[in-house]
Amino acid sequence: MNTSASRTIRSSADWVDYFRANAEQQKDIPWDEPVNLSAEERAVIIPSLRGWQLGETSDGAHLLAASHTYAADLGDATFIEAARLFIAEEQRHGGNLGRFLDCAGVSRAISDWGDTLFRAVRYFVPRMEIWATPVVMVETHALIYYNAVRRATRSAVLRRICEQILADEVAHIRFQCERLALLHHGRAGWLQALTMLFHRGFFTVITLAVWVGHRHALTAGGYRFKRFWAMAWSKMHHAWALMNPQAYAWNDPMPGHAPQAEEMPAGA
Ligand SMILES: [Fe+2]
Ligand SMILES: [Fe+2]
Repeated sequence: MNTSASRTIRSSADWVDYFRANAEQQKDIPWDEPVNLSAEERAVIIPSLRGWQLGETSDGAHLLAASHTYAADLGDATFIEAARLFIAEEQRHGGNLGRFLDCAGVSRAISDWGDTLFRAVRYFVPRMEIWATPVVMVETHALIYYNAVRRATRSAVLRRICEQILADEVAHIRFQCERLALLHHGRAGWLQALTMLFHRGFFTVITLAVWVGHRHALTAGGYRFKRFWAMAWSKMHHAWALMNPQAYAWNDPMPGHAPQAEEMPAGA
């Protein structure tokens, strides 16, 4: 029993305002500067960065399909615009990383096993929960991965791209977690326990897959396996706390529409 249920779900209109404002407050990327990648950075970072660049460039068609169904169920048409702006932000990440690869004379990836696996899970069923669950887990890893790349490179351009992605992902995780809290709200206790058991198993698999695919870049950025593993679970526990329905006050009959006084994510 949680006695301090004080969080509030932000309305879709609040999220639309946030994404629009964030699009206007992007960090300046010093594109005029040389790429400045050492041979070692090219060997260690670039192969895995190509995979992440591909992952960031999803066209969003499946999310939009899921959002239409979800928004209709919830009676919250504004959510579709929030989802569209979220997709635009991910595509901006992919666009900046792609432009960086172009500047470095590296071809962009066309396929990547991690990306293929991730898309398969999301596309299997176009439902918001099936979509948001793996996304929040990968975004949790993005917080570690882009920090590792930021630390591992001397390239001012790449560092700035990573800083922007890191800032944006904090808000993305909150966006997904609020959706999941809404979706889990009212679920029978045994089913919620089963859901969280599935989350832990699935997160274990994703975490191991991220390590296998990106361990060289992670290690170069200061994350050996033990630190990476501990950090991943610590960040995911934070996300699980954010998606816990018991942490929220459920006073409004239509939480998706309830404008709330709580501030939007700081710095993102
Ligand atoms: Fe992203
Ligand atoms: Fe994201």
